[in-house]
Amino acid sequence: MDDEPEYTPEEWDAALTAAEATELDRLAEAGIRPGKLDDVIGQTRVREQIGLLLEGARRRGATPDHLLLSGPPGLGKTTLAMIVAAELGVGLRQTSGPAIERSGDLAAILTGLARGEVLFIDEIHRMARPAEELLYTAMEDFRVDVIVGKGPGATAIPLELEPFTLVGATTRAGLLTGPLRDRFGFLGQLEFYGDAELEAIVKRSSGILGVAITDEGAAEIASRSRGTPRIANRLLRRVRDFAQVRADGTITTPVASEALALYDVDELGLDRLDRAVLGALVKTFGGGPVGLTTLAVAVGEQSDTVEEVSEPYLVRAGLLARTPRGRVATAAGWRHLGLAPPATEGLFGTGDA
Ligand SMILES: Nc1ncnc2c1ncn2[C@@H]1O[C@H](COP(=O)(O)OP(=O)(O)OP(=O)(O)O)[C@@H](O)[C@H]1O
Ligand SMILES: [Mg+2]
Repeated sequence: MDDEPEYTPEEWDAALTAAEATELDRLAEAGIRPGKLDDVIGQTRVREQIGLLLEGARRRGATPDHLLLSGPPGLGKTTLAMIVAAELGVGLRQTSGPAIERSGDLAAILTGLARGEVLFIDEIHRMARPAEELLYTAMEDFRVDVIVGKGPGATAIPLELEPFTLVGATTRAGLLTGPLRDRFGFLGQLEFYGDAELEAIVKRSSGILGVAITDEGAAEIASRSRGTPRIANRLLRRVRDFAQVRADGTITTPVASEALALYDVDELGLDRLDRAVLGALVKTFGGGPVGLTTLAVAVGEQSDTVEEVSEPYLVRAGLLARTPRGRVATAAGWRHLGLAPPATEGLFGTGDA
């Protein structure tokens, strides 16, 4: 075709990431993020549970229990944390595990909280150990012991805190220590979204962005969104560009599928890392089993990233399986790459898994 895209898929990916960071997209994102529990689409269970927890606390006039939200990136943990504060009508203080290097950092944040405020700690599993220990008494008794001085002369000065609600988010609930996990009164596990839910999210976001979209167009974007609202919204913004520049502005099925092909998003919505992981598993390791670390090295990524970002969706899409002996490509995984699964080798054979 003579209408060649000016960029390679790799360049598009890079541009996509860069575009995401632009002020414009951030503003759009802010408008798209649901602000009330009622605006949250999907996650019915967690939404109902949080609704009850907040209403119960409200009726008792008490500060709600601490909440832990876990699940893969982009499913709505930060959104829900903001909603908790908004529904309670209180302020939100936001920080993240890696940002808290010393317990003093956390003590400063905690003592600065006003009565009833929500403290959101993202990636809470990555908090430094001494800070985590400080958090125990803060969560339980609304008190921190600040150590003054050094050596034998050091004394612990207890500081009372205003009651607060901690909302912790983690992509790896399994990495939380027992004592920390036990201090949360509610553990919410976010799940990947179904196609109908994602379609509803795409339509809602289109309305906010002021772009016309057909039901089928929304379904097309939804089906390639890896079960993830953040990806659905990102794809929608890119398809919108395409619709406005190369079509009449309305997102229809052909517009959506042409745009997504241009951005190198495949029918299952796998991105470059997903495909690299699956590709290495099948082509380099003959379908596995292979250990996570080896697989991560083969695609030049951190094991954590492969495990937290790529694998959950590959597993859910039925393309990859985690077995005690290592990672294995399923028959569907081979076929997704346009390859025939091995006849008898492997744990999955050729049958449809
Ligand atoms: N239930 C939902 N309904 C509509 N939109 C949603 C929903 N959940 C998330 N979103 C959208 O997806 C985006 C990503 O959500 P959010 O930032 O809360 O994810 P996250 O779980 O915190 O991800 P990470 O682990 O990467 O921090 C939000 O900005 C919001 O626009
Ligand atoms: Mg987040």
